[in-house]
Amino acid sequence: MSFKPLDLFILITLLILGGCGWQMSEQPRYDTYEPLQGQPERTSARKPPAGTVLFQSRQTRPILTEELLRRGEERYNIYCSVCHGATGHGDGRIVQHGFPAPPSFHNEKLKAADDLHFWSAITNGAGRMYPYANRVSPEDRWAIVEWIRVLQMAESLKKERNS
Ligand code: HEC
Repeated sequence: MSFKPLDLFILITLLILGGCGWQMSEQPRYDTYEPLQGQPERTSARKPPAGTVLFQSRQTRPILTEELLRRGEERYNIYCSVCHGATGHGDGRIVQHGFPAPPSFHNEKLKAADDLHFWSAITNGAGRMYPYANRVSPEDRWAIVEWIRVLQMAESLKKERNS
Protein backbone atom coordinates (compact mmCIF):
# COMPACT_ATOMS: atom_id res chain seq x y z
CA MET A 1 0.00 0.00 0.00
CA SER A 2 1.41 3.39 -0.95
CA PHE A 3 0.42 6.87 0.32
CA LYS A 4 -0.22 9.74 -2.06
CA PRO A 5 0.73 13.22 -0.78
CA LEU A 6 -2.98 14.07 -0.42
CA ASP A 7 -3.65 10.98 1.74
CA LEU A 8 -0.70 11.92 3.89
CA PHE A 9 -1.98 15.48 4.25
CA ILE A 10 -5.47 14.28 5.27
CA LEU A 11 -4.01 11.78 7.71
CA ILE A 12 -1.76 14.33 9.37
CA THR A 13 -4.57 16.91 9.49
CA LEU A 14 -6.88 14.38 11.14
CA LEU A 15 -4.18 13.46 13.65
CA ILE A 16 -3.62 17.12 14.52
CA LEU A 17 -7.34 17.87 14.77
CA GLY A 18 -7.71 14.82 16.95
CA GLY A 19 -5.64 16.62 19.58
CA CYS A 20 -8.17 19.43 19.74
CA GLY A 21 -10.88 19.32 22.31
CA TRP A 22 -12.71 21.41 24.83
CA GLN A 23 -11.41 19.56 27.87
CA MET A 24 -8.89 22.29 28.69
CA SER A 25 -11.69 24.70 29.58
CA GLU A 26 -13.63 22.08 31.46
CA GLN A 27 -11.06 21.11 34.05
CA PRO A 28 -12.32 20.23 37.48
CA ARG A 29 -11.52 23.41 39.41
CA TYR A 30 -13.12 26.07 41.59
CA ASP A 31 -13.68 29.67 40.56
CA THR A 32 -12.83 32.35 43.12
CA TYR A 33 -15.47 32.53 45.87
CA GLU A 34 -17.34 29.54 44.42
CA PRO A 35 -19.08 27.62 47.22
CA LEU A 36 -17.28 24.39 48.11
CA GLN A 37 -19.12 21.22 47.15
CA GLY A 38 -21.32 20.09 49.99
CA GLN A 39 -20.28 23.08 52.12
CA PRO A 40 -22.28 26.03 50.76
CA GLU A 41 -21.24 28.24 53.68
CA ARG A 42 -17.55 27.95 52.74
CA THR A 43 -16.04 29.25 49.50
CA SER A 44 -12.99 28.35 47.44
CA ALA A 45 -11.23 31.56 48.62
CA ARG A 46 -9.31 30.70 51.77
CA LYS A 47 -9.03 33.02 54.72
CA PRO A 48 -5.54 34.51 55.11
CA PRO A 49 -3.62 32.76 57.93
CA ALA A 50 -3.65 34.38 61.37
CA GLY A 51 -1.07 37.15 61.67
CA THR A 52 -1.22 38.13 57.98
CA VAL A 53 -0.24 41.78 57.63
CA LEU A 54 -2.32 44.17 55.56
CA PHE A 55 0.08 45.49 52.93
CA GLN A 56 -1.12 48.98 52.05
CA SER A 57 -4.06 50.88 53.59
CA ARG A 58 -3.15 53.95 55.59
CA GLN A 59 -5.68 53.01 58.25
CA THR A 60 -6.79 55.60 60.76
CA ARG A 61 -4.05 56.69 63.05
CA PRO A 62 -4.38 55.10 66.47
CA ILE A 63 -4.77 57.28 69.55
CA LEU A 64 -1.51 57.88 71.40
CA THR A 65 -1.50 55.77 74.54
CA GLU A 66 1.21 54.39 76.79
CA GLU A 67 0.50 50.97 75.35
CA LEU A 68 1.01 52.24 71.78
CA LEU A 69 4.34 53.79 72.79
CA ARG A 70 5.51 50.55 74.36
CA ARG A 71 4.51 48.71 71.22
CA GLY A 72 6.37 51.30 69.13
CA GLU A 73 9.51 50.94 71.22
CA GLU A 74 9.37 47.16 70.92
CA ARG A 75 8.75 47.17 67.14
CA TYR A 76 11.40 49.84 66.58
CA ASN A 77 13.95 47.78 68.44
CA ILE A 78 13.05 44.70 66.42
CA TYR A 79 12.86 46.20 62.93
CA CYS A 80 14.71 49.50 62.85
CA SER A 81 17.43 49.68 65.49
CA VAL A 82 19.79 47.25 63.74
CA CYS A 83 20.45 50.01 61.21
CA HIS A 84 19.11 53.24 62.70
CA GLY A 85 20.53 52.54 66.17
CA ALA A 86 18.65 52.25 69.49
CA THR A 87 18.53 56.03 69.81
CA GLY A 88 18.12 56.83 66.10
CA HIS A 89 21.60 58.16 65.38
CA GLY A 90 22.03 55.90 62.35
CA ASP A 91 24.73 53.86 64.04
CA GLY A 92 23.09 50.42 64.39
CA ARG A 93 24.95 47.14 64.58
CA ILE A 94 24.65 46.43 60.84
CA VAL A 95 26.25 49.77 60.02
CA GLN A 96 29.24 48.75 62.12
CA HIS A 97 29.51 45.72 59.79
CA GLY A 98 29.70 47.88 56.68
CA PHE A 99 26.06 48.49 55.71
CA PRO A 100 25.49 52.05 54.39
CA ALA A 101 24.65 54.32 57.34
CA PRO A 102 21.11 55.71 57.41
CA PRO A 103 20.67 59.40 58.23
CA SER A 104 20.29 60.33 61.90
CA PHE A 105 16.71 60.96 62.99
CA HIS A 106 18.14 64.00 64.82
CA ASN A 107 19.20 65.94 61.74
CA GLU A 108 17.27 69.12 60.94
CA LYS A 109 15.47 67.60 57.94
CA LEU A 110 14.08 64.63 59.86
CA LYS A 111 13.20 66.67 62.94
CA ALA A 112 11.08 68.87 60.64
CA ALA A 113 9.62 65.99 58.59
CA ASP A 114 5.97 65.22 59.26
CA ASP A 115 4.76 61.94 60.72
CA LEU A 116 3.56 60.63 57.39
CA HIS A 117 7.10 60.91 56.03
CA PHE A 118 8.22 58.27 58.53
CA TRP A 119 5.08 56.17 58.06
CA SER A 120 5.63 56.17 54.29
CA ALA A 121 9.31 55.28 54.58
CA ILE A 122 8.32 52.14 56.51
CA THR A 123 5.54 51.37 54.02
CA ASN A 124 7.34 52.07 50.74
CA GLY A 125 11.01 52.06 51.66
CA ALA A 126 13.35 55.01 51.22
CA GLY A 127 16.24 54.95 48.77
CA ARG A 128 18.40 51.97 49.66
CA MET A 129 16.14 51.01 52.54
CA TYR A 130 13.62 48.39 51.53
CA PRO A 131 9.95 48.53 52.56
CA TYR A 132 8.71 46.95 55.79
CA ALA A 133 5.03 46.84 54.77
CA ASN A 134 4.94 43.05 54.73
CA ARG A 135 6.34 42.77 58.25
CA VAL A 136 5.03 45.82 60.10
CA SER A 137 1.26 46.33 60.19
CA PRO A 138 -0.16 49.80 59.42
CA GLU A 139 -0.99 50.34 63.10
CA ASP A 140 2.48 49.24 64.22
CA ARG A 141 3.98 51.72 61.72
CA TRP A 142 2.17 54.51 63.58
CA ALA A 143 3.41 53.09 66.88
CA ILE A 144 6.99 53.20 65.54
CA VAL A 145 6.51 56.78 64.33
CA GLU A 146 5.44 57.78 67.86
CA TRP A 147 8.54 56.10 69.29
CA ILE A 148 10.82 57.91 66.83
CA ARG A 149 9.25 61.18 68.04
CA VAL A 150 10.07 60.19 71.61
CA LEU A 151 13.69 59.52 70.60
CA GLN A 152 13.85 62.92 68.89
CA MET A 153 12.40 64.70 71.92
CA ALA A 154 14.81 62.94 74.26
CA GLU A 155 17.74 63.98 72.07
CA SER A 156 16.60 67.61 71.94
CA LEU A 157 16.21 67.64 75.70
CA LYS A 158 19.68 66.18 76.14
CA LYS A 159 21.17 68.85 73.87
CA GLU A 160 19.31 71.57 75.77
CA ARG A 161 20.56 70.32 79.13
CA ASN A 162 24.13 69.98 77.96
CA SER A 163 24.36 73.34 76.25
C1 HEC B 1 18.80 47.32 56.87
C2 HEC B 1 18.97 48.64 57.43
C3 HEC B 1 17.74 49.45 57.75
C4 HEC B 1 16.65 49.08 58.48
C5 HEC B 1 16.42 47.76 59.19
C6 HEC B 1 15.77 50.22 58.49
N1 HEC B 1 16.31 51.24 57.77
FE1 HEC B 1 15.50 53.07 57.51
N2 HEC B 1 17.03 53.57 56.26
C7 HEC B 1 18.15 52.80 56.03
C8 HEC B 1 19.04 53.48 55.11
C9 HEC B 1 20.39 52.97 54.60
C10 HEC B 1 18.41 54.70 54.79
C11 HEC B 1 18.91 55.77 53.83
C12 HEC B 1 18.46 55.34 52.46
C13 HEC B 1 18.99 56.21 51.36
O1 HEC B 1 19.08 57.42 51.57
O2 HEC B 1 19.26 55.66 50.29
C14 HEC B 1 17.15 54.72 55.54
C15 HEC B 1 16.23 55.75 55.51
C16 HEC B 1 15.15 55.85 56.33
C17 HEC B 1 14.25 56.99 56.39
C18 HEC B 1 14.27 58.17 55.44
C19 HEC B 1 15.10 59.28 55.93
C20 HEC B 1 15.01 60.44 54.98
O3 HEC B 1 16.09 60.95 54.63
O4 HEC B 1 13.91 60.85 54.61
C21 HEC B 1 13.35 56.76 57.39
C22 HEC B 1 12.22 57.67 57.84
C23 HEC B 1 13.65 55.45 57.92
N3 HEC B 1 14.74 54.95 57.27
C24 HEC B 1 12.94 54.84 58.92
C25 HEC B 1 13.09 53.49 59.27
C26 HEC B 1 12.21 52.80 60.17
C27 HEC B 1 11.07 53.42 60.92
C28 HEC B 1 12.65 51.50 60.22
C29 HEC B 1 12.03 50.35 60.95
C30 HEC B 1 10.70 49.96 60.56
C31 HEC B 1 13.80 51.40 59.35
N4 HEC B 1 14.03 52.62 58.79
C32 HEC B 1 14.54 50.25 59.14
C33 HEC B 1 18.40 51.55 56.55
C34 HEC B 1 17.52 50.81 57.30
